[in-house]
Amino acid sequence: MHAIRSLPMLASSCVLGLAAACADAQPQTQGSMPSTPPWQTASPWPDRIVVTLEEDPASSFSVTWRTSADVRETRAEIVLADDHARFDLGARSVPARTETPDLTRKRVDGSEYALRWNEHVDAPAYHTVTFSGLEPDTLYAYRVMGAEGHWSEWFQTRTAPEPGTPFRFLYFGDAQDGIGSHWARVVRAAFAAAPDARFAIHAGDLVNIGSRDYEWAAWFRSVGFIHGTIPALPAVGNHEYFDGLRDSDGDLVTALSVLWRPQFALPQDPSLPEAVRETVYAVRYGDALIAVLDTMADGHFDAQADWLDGVLGASDAKWKIVTMHHPMFELLERRYPEPGPERRAAFLPVFERHGVDIVLQGHDHAYGRGATMRSGARAPTATQGELGTVFVTSVSGVKMYPVSDDGWSGFAEHRAVLERTAENTPFFQVITLDGDALTYEARTATGRLYDAFRLEKQRTGPNRLVELATDFDSPRRFDNTGPYETGRFDQVPPRP
Ligand SMILES: [Fe+2]
Repeated sequence: MHAIRSLPMLASSCVLGLAAACADAQPQTQGSMPSTPPWQTASPWPDRIVVTLEEDPASSFSVTWRTSADVRETRAEIVLADDHARFDLGARSVPARTETPDLTRKRVDGSEYALRWNEHVDAPAYHTVTFSGLEPDTLYAYRVMGAEGHWSEWFQTRTAPEPGTPFRFLYFGDAQDGIGSHWARVVRAAFAAAPDARFAIHAGDLVNIGSRDYEWAAWFRSVGFIHGTIPALPAVGNHEYFDGLRDSDGDLVTALSVLWRPQFALPQDPSLPEAVRETVYAVRYGDALIAVLDTMADGHFDAQADWLDGVLGASDAKWKIVTMHHPMFELLERRYPEPGPERRAAFLPVFERHGVDIVLQGHDHAYGRGATMRSGARAPTATQGELGTVFVTSVSGVKMYPVSDDGWSGFAEHRAVLERTAENTPFFQVITLDGDALTYEARTATGRLYDAFRLEKQRTGPNRLVELATDFDSPRRFDNTGPYETGRFDQVPPRP
C-alpha cells in the first residue's frame, strides 16, 4: 500500500505555510536526538563556499563563504588556472566585504521575531569577493580565507563564453526536505552526469524553513565542492520566505530568509523595488539570457513584469530562459489560495511578447513538461501546434505529491498542453545550448533519461520541438513505482 491518500491535505497546509503542518512534515526523531553536527558550526576556516554570477559573467564572478563571526576582515585570491604545479604563484589578492547577520532574530515591518531554530547556533560572518576584469571562457583558480592563514583549497571555475559557444547547465526543482539525507545523491549524480555544466539553476524551495541554519548546513554539505566550482543561480520559493512566524493577530509572517542575501551574491538592478533585491535578477550567459523571478513578491508582480519586459526587449540573446518557483500552470489539485491568475496575467503576456523559449519551475513536488501554443484553438500536442513557450515543473528532493488527473485541462484559455508527467521521482536536468538547438534532458537520481526533447530555432516563426528517445516506456506514477512515505526524511537536530 502506498501512503499517498493524505498527500493533498499535506500539500495544501504546507504550501499555505501553516506553521504546525509544515513543521510536522519535518521528521522528529524519538529517543536519542542527534546533536548539532560539527559541519554546521562556523569556525575560523571558510566553509559554505558558493560561486555566483554577476550581470556580465564573461568578465566577473562572485564567491561567498562563511566563518565564525570573529573573522571581520579577510580576502580571496585568484589566478589563471594553468598546467604547472605552482599555478598559484602570482595570484592576485582581493579584499572581501563582510556581513554578520543575526540568525536569532528577524525584523519584519518594524516588529521583531525570535528565530528559535537558531538559538543555539554560533554567530557567523559571511564574506564575499567579486572578481572582475576577467577574460571570457577562461578557467580561473581561486581560494578564500577565513581567519589569517586559514585558506580553503584552490577551486577552479570558468568564466562565461562569448555568444556562439556551446555550453550546458543544470536545473533542479525543489530540494527542500531530506536535504542532508536524500537530496545529496541527486545533486551529486547531476555533477557526475555533467561535470562541465557552467551553472546550476535552483528553482526555489532550496530548504524548508528559510532562516533555519541547519537546513542550509545540510544543503551546503550536499553540494560540497560542486558550488565552489559550478556557479549557483538560485531563485526564491515560498519556503525561503517561511520561518513559521506569526504576528500578534495569529497571521503568518512571510519575509525573506535572513540568510539569503548574506550567502548568495546576486546581481542587483537598481530599477527594481528594494523588496526584490537579489531575488529578481538577470544574467546574460553566452547565447542565453536567464531571468529569475520572485513569485512570492506578489505585491511587485507588475514591477517584475515591467522589468522583465525591458530586460528581454533589450537583449539580443538567442535563447531566452526564465526561472521562477511557482509554476505558471499547476500540476496538482489546488485547494488553497495562491495568486496563480495574477501570476499568469502579469508574466504570460511578457513571455509571449518576447518569445521566451523555456520556463524552469518548481513547487509542485511532481514532474510536468508542456508548452503553450501561439495560435490555433486546438493543438493536441506541442509538436503539432505553433509552439509558444515550454514550461517545466520539476522536483529534486524527496517530498512528492500526486499529479492531478486533469493535467492542465484547466488552462485551455492559455492554450497550454501538458506532454509528460511523473510522480514519486526526484530529477535533475541537463540543458545544452548549441547554436540553434536547445537539448533538454530530465534524468533520475540513477542517471536514467526520463524526458528529453530538442528545441530548434527556425529561420522564421516559432521554435520546433522534437521529442527524443528516453529510457522509460510509460509515465512513472505512485501506483507503478516503489512505495512512498512522507516524513522522517532527515536526522535533524531537535527543535528548541
Ligand atoms: Fe514551494
